[in-house]
Amino acid sequence: MRKIQRSGSILIFLMVLGFSIAGHAQTRVPDVHFDPTPWDVVEAMLNKAGVNQDDVVYDLGCGDGRFVILAAKNFGARGVGVDIDPVRIKESKENAQKAKVADRTTFIEGDLFKADIREATVVTLYLLNDLNYQLRQKLFRELKPGTRIVSYTFDMADWEPDEMMQIRDRFFYYWVIPADVKGIWRFNIASLGGDLQDQLTLNQKYQEVSGKIIVQGREFHIRDQRLKGNQVSFGIRYNVEGQNVLMKFSGRVTGDLLEGSVEVQGGPWAGTKPWNAQRVKH
Ligand SMILES: C[S@@+](CC[C@H](N)C(=O)[O-])C[C@H]1O[C@@H](n2cnc3c(N)ncnc32)[C@H](O)[C@@H]1O
Repeated sequence: MRKIQRSGSILIFLMVLGFSIAGHAQTRVPDVHFDPTPWDVVEAMLNKAGVNQDDVVYDLGCGDGRFVILAAKNFGARGVGVDIDPVRIKESKENAQKAKVADRTTFIEGDLFKADIREATVVTLYLLNDLNYQLRQKLFRELKPGTRIVSYTFDMADWEPDEMMQIRDRFFYYWVIPADVKGIWRFNIASLGGDLQDQLTLNQKYQEVSGKIIVQGREFHIRDQRLKGNQVSFGIRYNVEGQNVLMKFSGRVTGDLLEGSVEVQGGPWAGTKPWNAQRVKH
């Protein structure tokens, strides 16, 4: 009898040990402690990101769930919060219940660096500079061009924000994931006379773009260039037969295809024409 009791105790001891080892294996110390973003800043950040009912808002390190809950409650979005701390996840779920948005919010206990964020259309952050820098690669790898990112207090080093906003003495940053546009693109605007093969060469660092274009055998540096998500635009100026000509190109990038229009002001070809380009070299 005593032998059975002893082996029973050993079994219970081993089970407790096993559970606690397994538990420890799952728990990781948070990379940054919980500190909530003030509510008025949360609202301003969601407003800046233009959150609406078509959006899926991910808060990486969601704390008490406030970004995700407000995005669902006031902006009609769906939201997902990820936090490594189980206490925060429990709290977020309770808060979502209270706010009556449990059906449009999901809270995941886990490491934000390992979360699958591909479905996000908006990402909100309040981490640290170092964590933002570490996260950058993942954001570019997983998020679609056009996805908006807002970060409270911390920036992304040499990835300059599209905008920096201030509320009282607080700052937040706003970016849009740019499409990959670098490379050589070929196009042909037959209506501009002749069938010369025209070429656009784009260099890119994040959303900053520079480059040159060959139109009808003449080379120009592009100017007023802008890349926002998958929308690219730029212009060139030149003189033809004594007249100043401004050509404004704009288009949408989908993989290796750029589709849009070119507006010509001045000169013999004034007007707006379709413009499509195909990337031939990355
Ligand atoms: C400064 S709080 C921000 C909370 C919330 N996003 C807000 O702005 O109110 C950072 C949160 O990130 C969580 N966290 C820290 N490291 C994490 C990691 N590696 N993965 C997931 N969450 C993490 C913390 O538990 C904490 O709740």
